[in-house]
Amino acid sequence: MLTDPLTALYEPLLRHPGSKPLIIAQIGQSLDGRIATPTGKSRHINGFAGLDHLHRLRALVDAVVVGVGTVLFDNPELTTRRVEGRSPTRVVIDRSGRSPRDSRWLRQDGCHRIVFSENPAGWPEAVERIGTDLESDIFEPGKLIAALAARGHQRILIEGGATTVSRFIDAGMVDRLHICLAPMILGSGRSALDLRPIDNLCDALRPRVRPYLLDDGNVLYDCDLRSDAGGGPHGDA
Ligand SMILES: NC(=O)c1ccc[n+]([C@@H]2O[C@H](COP(=O)([O-])OP(=O)(O)OC[C@H]3O[C@@H](n4cnc5c(N)ncnc54)[C@H](OP(=O)(O)O)[C@@H]3O)[C@@H](O)[C@H]2O)c1
Repeated sequence: MLTDPLTALYEPLLRHPGSKPLIIAQIGQSLDGRIATPTGKSRHINGFAGLDHLHRLRALVDAVVVGVGTVLFDNPELTTRRVEGRSPTRVVIDRSGRSPRDSRWLRQDGCHRIVFSENPAGWPEAVERIGTDLESDIFEPGKLIAALAARGHQRILIEGGATTVSRFIDAGMVDRLHICLAPMILGSGRSALDLRPIDNLCDALRPRVRPYLLDDGNVLYDCDLRSDAGGGPHGDA
């Protein structure tokens, strides 16, 4: 059964007490589980409905995180242009510093910008760089979140892409995963997730899931990764 309206969807963010970080990851994918074409084009799989949802999420978090692959393919602004609310701190994980220094996320617009990178060269002056000189295993997702939390960021959106979201899920860092299914079939291209392989169905994640109907035939699945819905075949036949 689909759930509407959307109020319940944003409740965890709205009522988050802030005592420990709340991590939400999002994926916009086709019916066949692709987030981009083979040449990396993903804009905008979920249309305006998906964009509105993404901007609402950004408005409700303290920081939005993407991997450098997303910067290179999409050059996102990571702001809240389509909804009311302030834009969050923009965070890019870019170990070797491949992000072009004129990328949109680096624009000076009053938002704090953080890069996790080993490369100190060429970042605009106000950009905060965090690297292994600060902490040796800082690129480990748990350490990365701790570094953001230490800077006052308690609600964090992992926006993409597939590699980054998968690493945070594999590390057990994601509380809620929003999967937005667009009514289209790409048939080829990037898979939405690339998690550590499992041998048996009993090892699959089986979170409690609540589906929401968005506009234009998009269906958003709100997956509570801290829950276990049980059910299903445990063990292979
Ligand atoms: N449909 C959607 O919802 C959506 C959302 C965002 C992006 N996208 C699409 O996704 C594609 C990009 O995804 P992607 O998987 O190729 O790239 P990505 O996840 O954006 O970035 C991956 C890169 O980020 C760095 N990185 C991420 N986490 C790290 C960690 N914990 N430690 C160290 N480095 C880390 C690594 O860079 P280095 O290799 O330099 O170390 C890694 O190769 C594009 O086609 C984009 O359009 C789709």
